[in-house]
Amino acid sequence: MKIAVLPGDGIGTEIVAEAVKVLKVLELPLELEHAPVGGAAYEISGHPLPEATLKLALGADAVLFGAVGDWKYDKLDRPLRPEQAILGLRKHLGLFANFRPAICYSQLTHASSLKPELVAGLDILIIRELTGDIYFGQPRGRRTAVDGHFPGSEEAFDTMRYSRPEIERIAHVAFQAARKRGKKVTSVDKANVLETFQFWKDVVTEVHTQHYQDVELEHMYVDNAAMQLVKAPKKFDVVFTGNMFGDILSDEAAMLTGSIGMLPSASLNERNQGLYEPSHGSAPDIAGKGVANPLATILSAAMMLRFSLGQEQAAQRIEAAVQQVLTDGLRTGDIYSEGTQRVGTREMGDAVVAALKRQG
Ligand code: IPM
Ligand code: MG
Repeated sequence: MKIAVLPGDGIGTEIVAEAVKVLKVLELPLELEHAPVGGAAYEISGHPLPEATLKLALGADAVLFGAVGDWKYDKLDRPLRPEQAILGLRKHLGLFANFRPAICYSQLTHASSLKPELVAGLDILIIRELTGDIYFGQPRGRRTAVDGHFPGSEEAFDTMRYSRPEIERIAHVAFQAARKRGKKVTSVDKANVLETFQFWKDVVTEVHTQHYQDVELEHMYVDNAAMQLVKAPKKFDVVFTGNMFGDILSDEAAMLTGSIGMLPSASLNERNQGLYEPSHGSAPDIAGKGVANPLATILSAAMMLRFSLGQEQAAQRIEAAVQQVLTDGLRTGDIYSEGTQRVGTREMGDAVVAALKRQG
């Protein structure tokens, strides 16, 4: 089983190193090949997603990804910015289905900024469409306005669009995921304003009526969903939405759990090839300090074993080891609270490795 390991920028290198350590103790037939991506790749080769990195990713069973981005690249032309690497990988690998679980570990109930009773036992799954919407819609660009409020002035524009097959295939993913959990899908849209999301709502309703009557479907406007997520998050099971709303809501949901540093993600294509990355970014402010939480990346490696490599048992072992270190009271700064033991990135990774070994 071949894994492309793309650590990227900022804390990416530190956290991916810990996940690699964890994978290695499992003694599975895994072939890990590293390649640069994002700003790190730009520095070496002048492009955030070099041909060789893309080729490695395309040929691998799975990609283990760290994070990309740094303020110092903000002035570069858009095609050269680090973020283009992850967008390019999503596009070239066809990774349309993004799974972002938001689970509040009982050990961390007090790390959330919400009242413990609101988040205790929280387990929701965000399914975000990842290769369409305003992120990829053409045309886009800058031009001189010919109409609107200020004709003749400089303007910028993007295009929000979804085709029927794009909505159908991600709707199937969402309903099937719900079937294996709480059997409820909340489809988030802005059908009251946007044509694209009225269409989204119509197509999702059709797919539901034709195939998934055993799953409960509710529709919710995105503004209300943002509110309900902090008001009564446990009412959700699968939160299903498009690319941009999913970007925003998944960060919000992450904070319910105490720290975005705990949350893994998986992005899959139609062949179950996947890219696995923490839900958080490159955090340049704490990069190189050895304080980042590696657990989201370690849990992403577990998702990789489960979804793309067919190693359910190994995935469960990693998840149990993570539970164990939390129970033992180990905390990186982002999840630290009084009475627990503050550790760095490497110590946290070592503790997971040790917990795995203790499982025998
Ligand atoms: C995410 C990130 C990316 C996105 C950026 C880095 C392009 O915020 O994965 O949520 O907007 O999708
Ligand atoms: Mg985001």
